[in-house]
Formats: sequence, C-alpha cells, structure tokens
Amino acid sequence: MQKKVKTTIEECDEVASKLAIDGGTPVRTEALPLEFPGVHHMGVEEVEAATRVVGSRSMFRYYGVALQREVEAFESEFAHFLGVQHVVAVSSGTAALNVALGALGVGPGQEVIVPAYMWVSVAAAVINRGAIPVLADIDDTFGIDPRSLEERISSKTTGIIVVHMSGAAADIEAIRAVADRRKLFLLEDCAQCIGGTVNGRRVGSFGDMGVFSFQMNKNMTAGEGGAVVTNNRRLYDRAFACHDLGYARNDAGRLIMNDPELCLWGQGCRLDEIRASVLRVQLAKLPQIVGSMHRSKYRIREAIKSLRGIGLRRVVDEAGDTSPFLITTYRDSETAQKVNRALRAEGIVTYPQGITNILMTEWGFHLYYNIVSLVQRTSVDQAGFPWNLIENAGLRAEYAKGTCPVADSLFERSILLAIPSSLTEHDEGDIIRALKKVHQSLIAR
Ligand SMILES: Cc1ncc(COP(=O)(O)O)c(C=O)c1O
Repeated sequence: MQKKVKTTIEECDEVASKLAIDGGTPVRTEALPLEFPGVHHMGVEEVEAATRVVGSRSMFRYYGVALQREVEAFESEFAHFLGVQHVVAVSSGTAALNVALGALGVGPGQEVIVPAYMWVSVAAAVINRGAIPVLADIDDTFGIDPRSLEERISSKTTGIIVVHMSGAAADIEAIRAVADRRKLFLLEDCAQCIGGTVNGRRVGSFGDMGVFSFQMNKNMTAGEGGAVVTNNRRLYDRAFACHDLGYARNDAGRLIMNDPELCLWGQGCRLDEIRASVLRVQLAKLPQIVGSMHRSKYRIREAIKSLRGIGLRRVVDEAGDTSPFLITTYRDSETAQKVNRALRAEGIVTYPQGITNILMTEWGFHLYYNIVSLVQRTSVDQAGFPWNLIENAGLRAEYAKGTCPVADSLFERSILLAIPSSLTEHDEGDIIRALKKVHQSLIAR
C-alpha cells in the first residue's frame, strides 16, 4: 500500500517537471505582456496633454497663435532630472546621435570607437559624418570593455561612443577615465537606459554629451523623439544650431544670422509641441515605470542567482539598473538554444508580436556582425563614401564576425528576456518556475 502511494507521488512529480517541449504541461499558456515600458503606463494624462496642444493650434516649438512652450519646458525638466545644464530635444535618437556628432565636429579622417553591442544608428551616425567606426569588444556588463577600448585607440581616434545597452550602464567611470587620459570625447548613448544611474549619478551626465531616444520601445515614449544633453555651453550651442537650420535663434524664435561661430549646417530634426507635451507626462511617470521593471527583474534575478549553470549579466550598479531586460548566459551556444526552446515551450513568450525571450544572436541590428551595411561597407553614393575618402585611407574598417571575440561568445551563449513594466507577481512567478524547471531538466542533471 505504502509503495503504491510513493509511486503515485513520484509519478506526479515527474509529470509536473516534464518539460513542455517533451510533452509535459507548460508553466503557462497565456502570452506574456508585450514590452514597451512607457506604453503600459500611458493614460488620460498623456491624452489630455496632447489634446491641450492640438487645441492651442500651436504645434511648432518656436511660435504659434497660442504657443504653449512644451518643448522648452520638457528640455528644462529633463535637464533637471538628469542633473545636466543643457538639453536639445530632437525628433529621434538617431537624430540625436547625428546632431551630437555634428556638435563634436566629427568628420573624415577620424576614427570613433563604438561597442560590438549597440544599435545600427550608432555606426550609421559615424559613417554619415564621413568618419570610420572602430569596434571595441564588450565585457560581462555587455558594455564596452575598458581594456579593449584602450587597445583600439589609435592616433586617428577622436572619440568614444559608449552605449548603455538593455537597460543597464556600461562601466562608465572606467570608460570616462580612459577618455580623459587619452583626451578623447565621450558620447553616451542612453537610448536604452533612460533614468539609469551609476553611484547615484544619471547616465548621460558622465560624457561630454549624451543622447536619448523616446521611440516606443524605450523607458519613456511619445512614439518617436530624442534628446541631446551636455554640460558644455559651446557644444550645446552647436547642437542647437545643428538640430535646426544651422543657426542660433533669438527669444522670439527668429534665426540669428550674424554669429560667425554658429553659421553651420542644420539637420532639420526639431521636436514638435505635441510629442513634448506627452514626454513631460512620461518623464513624471518614469520613476514608476522603471521601479516596476526593477522590482520584477530583481525578484527573478534573486530567485535564479544560485542556479548553477545560469549566468547573470554583471550589472555595474544594481540600484541604477532600469531593468527592461534580463540577460542570462549559459556554458555554450547549444545549451542556450536548448534552454531558449524549452522556455518558449513553457509559455515564456510573446512572439510574434513582441521580442520576449530570444537568443541574443537573433537580436538583429544590435550585434555588429548582423549589420549588413557595416560588414559590407556599403555607401549611399557611387564614390564609396566614406570608405573611399582619401582622408580615411588606412583607417581600420573591420567589422566581420570575429572582430570582437568576447562579444561573439556572449551573443551565442546568452538569452534576452524582456521585463515588461506591467508584469504581475503571477507572471514573475511563472517566469521563475519555468526557469527553475528548465534548469532542473537541462542543466542541473
Ligand atoms: C542604443 C540606441 N541608440 C539609438 C537608437 C535610435 O533611436 P531612434 O529609434 O529614436 O532613432 C536606438 C533605438 O532603438 C537605440 O537602441
């Protein structure tokens, strides 16, 4: 009799732990919520803000029949939030990169160091200015490795673009030290880390300049939008001119054409009043948005941190992690693939609408070797700009897989799990249960 009961319990355990991929019961069947952190917290406040601007019939930032000065207010509120002196709001993060590099005077004959883990816009901004991006490898923070950075500096290097990826900061203090020692400009791309901090200081305030994106996947959003930030008045003036028509403007919003320092070429990427009004509301909600992702992510990290065989990304300052993604790393690519497939079968998925739970190798234009136009060094003109410019002869334009071996290995062995800002405790519990179940069957044995 006793024997029979014991067998039944064992059988129950076996059924409960049998992986869904092997015919067991999945941990959940309902799709996880989509990512898009700011979107989950959008409500009547954003609607009222946008409606107010449309009602004013003054959607242009510089003048109108009843100008609301939303862009100006957003710039000053964002500057205050970051603890920086100047902000220029622009129409996208890509525009912000272009404007910042224009302000910094990047052009042909210069090498600018970019990380192996980034976004296509980072390389594109350098190339569009006629300069050459040089890849630096990453470390276990998934940001630039300060040692690789140092090694890749040449006599042609003028600056570094550090990219705070997947919600958490790179080793920014060490990178700042390299930039200072080697007298290079430091531009921080904070598109994926809005509101992040390191030792209490906001990302975007460490560099000579910082850039942000408010596109829909970011921690706060107006669908599209961006910002360039700096503490340097000259860089601000240049960025301001570059984002507009190439000139400064007076208090009435009219162009000033007799300033010899600010007689430049504009990029036409001003932000409009409607999106600025939405961004002001989202900025006020940012602590709440980031707070919810942080709570979810660190509950999951805490629950899995002792599972041998599941590595966690090193986070430079956990308190300052904005947390839209959890990155886990495995001993080899085969294990990562198996775990990924098994987790998806357990219902840890939003696909096809979202990107929850993917192998990092599937993370598109975030990986240098996936950026086809970079690897193939394509040009928009017939002359091969910027690769064939005489000023760029001999500069190191190497982008094939293998250029950054640490990144190559991390990408192949890692899984990216989105942490939506609307995860419930129940969702978090399911993610933890699925990770433990898959670990038990595929790794611990
Ligand atoms: C790191 C990084 N930089 C720049 C950008 C470009 O921002 P946007 O899409 O607003 O042009 C993105 C957007 O995805 C990004 O992730």
